Amino acid sequence: MGRRRLVVANWKMNLTTPEGCSLVEAVLGTAKQRPEVDVVVCPSFVSLQPLGRSLAHTPVALGAQDVFWLGKGAYTGQVSPRMLVDSGCRYCIVGHSEARGRFGSEPPRPLSYFSDTDETVAQKVSALVFANIVPILCVGETALERQDGRTDEVVAEQLAKALERVAPEECSNLTIAYEPVWAIGTGNVCDADEAARMCGLIRDEVASITDSACGDQVRILYGGSVKASNCAEIFANSQVDGALVGGASLIADEFSKIVLSA
Ligand code: PGA
Repeated sequence: MGRRRLVVANWKMNLTTPEGCSLVEAVLGTAKQRPEVDVVVCPSFVSLQPLGRSLAHTPVALGAQDVFWLGKGAYTGQVSPRMLVDSGCRYCIVGHSEARGRFGSEPPRPLSYFSDTDETVAQKVSALVFANIVPILCVGETALERQDGRTDEVVAEQLAKALERVAPEECSNLTIAYEPVWAIGTGNVCDADEAARMCGLIRDEVASITDSACGDQVRILYGGSVKASNCAEIFANSQVDGALVGGASLIADEFSKIVLSA
């Protein structure tokens, strides 16, 4: 069976719950027009419960933007996988470059409380798999790493480390997003052929870390300045199974066009 196309809205820290509820109405309308495409919205933690209720039994799935890896305990400020399940989440973004403290806009932000490392990302991926939530694992190089010719090596290493704690047979449900850091929120979308090459490279890496069946099944998205005007080119290559959309997912009409073109 072929891989289903997937479009994920990453709302980041942008919408209040009432704003999210009204945007999701439009997203639902679009998703119903394209039943062959999987659509996921990822609001902030505080909107998960109400949106989970509105989206129950609809074609739009709910995702979180992050998670902590332990089940429960004295971890002030954290949210566990079972809390995500309880809110109705089926997906969770993990290892986003912003959560790793890697930003596309220069100069780098001075505050370092965004603290994901390869090790915490691996813990989170494994906890999500265990909780039966699909991890949307983000990998990608910075502008400097690309300039130094280290793109392939950086991405391969992020992947290998993130998948260290999951068994090969647990990987088929995984989704990976290739998100070059320099393309996120900058308007500098990655060239479509290069995005497809990177998605192909990621597929080959997953196959070599796990097995070829898993390499075939895993869905690989492109993310970074995707909008209505550039998505058709990105979706044209069969290596790319969809998109992780930030800024454009906040505008109903833009996001709708992206879903319709997937
Ligand atoms: P962007 O963000 O579409 O605003 O570039 C994508 C992402 O961070 O997932």
